[in-house]
Amino acid sequence: MSRTALATIHLGALRRNLARVREVAGAAKVMAVVKADGYGHGLERVARACADADALGVAALGDGLRLRSAGNRQRIVVLAGPDEPGDLAELRRLDLDAVIHHQAQLDWLAAEHPLAGTRPLRVWLKIDTGMHRLGFDSSGIVEIHAKLRALPNIDADIVLMTHFAASDEFGNDLTATQIARFEQASAELAGARALANSAGLLGWPASFSAGTGHAENWVRVGGLLYGLSVVAGKSGADLGFEPAMTLSTRLISVKQVGKGECIGYAATWECPEDMTIGVAAIGYGDGYPRSAQPGTPVLVDGRPAAIVGRVSMDLITIDLRNVPGARVGDRVTLWGRDLPVETIAAHAGTISYDLTCGMTRRVLFVEDDT
Ligand SMILES: Cc1ncc(COP(=O)(O)O)c(C=O)c1O
Repeated sequence: MSRTALATIHLGALRRNLARVREVAGAAKVMAVVKADGYGHGLERVARACADADALGVAALGDGLRLRSAGNRQRIVVLAGPDEPGDLAELRRLDLDAVIHHQAQLDWLAAEHPLAGTRPLRVWLKIDTGMHRLGFDSSGIVEIHAKLRALPNIDADIVLMTHFAASDEFGNDLTATQIARFEQASAELAGARALANSAGLLGWPASFSAGTGHAENWVRVGGLLYGLSVVAGKSGADLGFEPAMTLSTRLISVKQVGKGECIGYAATWECPEDMTIGVAAIGYGDGYPRSAQPGTPVLVDGRPAAIVGRVSMDLITIDLRNVPGARVGDRVTLWGRDLPVETIAAHAGTISYDLTCGMTRRVLFVEDDT
């Protein structure tokens, strides 16, 4: 019996979620966003499960290198582009697409002397339409596009992209404003478009559907691929997607504690009666959120229970009053198919993405095909 906290990654769920994304995306091409180690699910394994995606999206060059080293030959887009001039040669060598979002990157490209025979760099030009993170101001985009086109060794098919700030709020006008600014700024430019993230896919068809009139549209989908919700108050399953990670561990102690005694660090939780307390081998040292409040649900041998006291580094304590017969060795599920990670996130004051991305190296990752 392993005490180790276990993250089981469901490859079948990843594949079905990608297929569902494709269904909703219609004619649009699909970029599977696998940054942050595949949202914590494992970069290489997620990429393998997403072999059908039209491209993979990674945050930085290092992830592209990891994928190429693992033998991946898919189209890969580095979403932050080059971080320094020397990255350009590496992007070309690894055959990675680069998002260009800042004047410094344009200057590096202009000063570059690529080796003869190197392939043209494929570029995604990022326009800031209101997120105010990465991207060129929309007002000067035609000029920047022309500068890029004039550079030797840049692929002629430049994809135009932007990123939404609040697409998860389907009633928020900001997304409509961002789409309008994007269309206006890029009206005279040819080429593919890439606007929607997961929430854009669900709530903003005007950003990718055939009605845009553009020859090629892309969606860049992360969260939904992993079955993570992108809409407050809903789980991924509520939206028709399946969780791709189950996090579980084991009970390593079951004990009786008397009424009025307190559980765990700082003695914050007092037993209201004589009761059974279980101790499970997982804590913030594994990535389980320390901020999870008493009452955060877990499943013990498939039966509902809740944590009490503070989450510590290696352990959590569980109220077993409603789990008669619970024994050392019973499996404890922290999140997964029968317990939405969104529920845990709500009890911990965060979002599901934060939880799956937060698994530490102590967690043992295994795959299944379900
Ligand atoms: C540029 C870009 N595109 C797409 C995504 C995917 O977003 P989501 O996981 O909400 O689909 C991200 C993630 O934050 C991103 O930074």
